[in-house]
Amino acid sequence: MSGVIEVHDLHYQYPDGTPALNGIDFRLEAGETVALLGANGSGKTTFVLHLNGLLTGEGRVEICGLPVEKRHLPEIRRKVGLVFQESDNQLFMPTVLEDVAFGLLNAGMDQVAAIARAKGALETTGMTAAAGRAPYHLSAGEKKRVAIAGILAMDPEILVLDEPTTFLDPPGQRALAGLLSDLPQAKILVTHDIPFAAALCKRAVFFEHGRMIADGPIEDIVARFAWDFTASENETCHSTGERSSRHRG
Ligand SMILES: Nc1ncnc2c1ncn2[C@@H]1O[C@H](COP(=O)(O)OP(=O)(O)OP(=O)(O)O)[C@@H](O)[C@H]1O
Ligand SMILES: [Mg+2]
Repeated sequence: MSGVIEVHDLHYQYPDGTPALNGIDFRLEAGETVALLGANGSGKTTFVLHLNGLLTGEGRVEICGLPVEKRHLPEIRRKVGLVFQESDNQLFMPTVLEDVAFGLLNAGMDQVAAIARAKGALETTGMTAAAGRAPYHLSAGEKKRVAIAGILAMDPEILVLDEPTTFLDPPGQRALAGLLSDLPQAKILVTHDIPFAAALCKRAVFFEHGRMIADGPIEDIVARFAWDFTASENETCHSTGERSSRHRG
């Protein structure tokens, strides 16, 4: 049986010449949840932008057996719900409610049903009171909650969340973890938030310089790359590498 996401030998270079993906192989099964870990600039966001065709590199990307190419994009974008790392790239309608309803209306749902569903999603992320407000006036965490509501409203087959807990307050983080753990969909969580990732994922992959250099149980990956926040002596903000190479003795 094929996975819901299959990626083979994916390469991508930004137009300015920056190489961002250098041969990615990846597979996600239905119902599976995986954390994408790795340093700033290692290619995580670039990778997930390929999953619904916002970027197109060289190699093969298939969603539920469909190649990610122009003719399949409307169907693929219904299947893959992507919460952007930057909420400002996601929110563009005059009001929060219109923003959350946008995807539903665009997919052909009638107005009454779309508004009802959008209101339900806003309730889920604790943003009901902001329904009539302008997205660009919201706080960073509020914007994140609205962006998540917009994707949840669409009920996609695959959820891809790029740094979903950034800016969320601790109750918001707990609520999101609880909400996601109850959803049956396959999920990709791009995150530097290890407690959040560990609460939701058995599996993690680790990015380095545009490659997935490790794939396995999340506790093994976190230990191997010291990918947790237990600051040790002589640690600098730009040190990476495996734990064994960083700890003396
Ligand atoms: N629009 C762009 N043009 C040129 N280079 C880019 C662009 N966006 C990202 N890059 C570069 O591509 C590489 C991968 O970036 P990417 O955003 O995928 O990293 P990331 O793993 O998501 O990092 P972070 O943890 O900081 O979110 C980096 O070297 C980055 O500087
Ligand atoms: Mg990123």
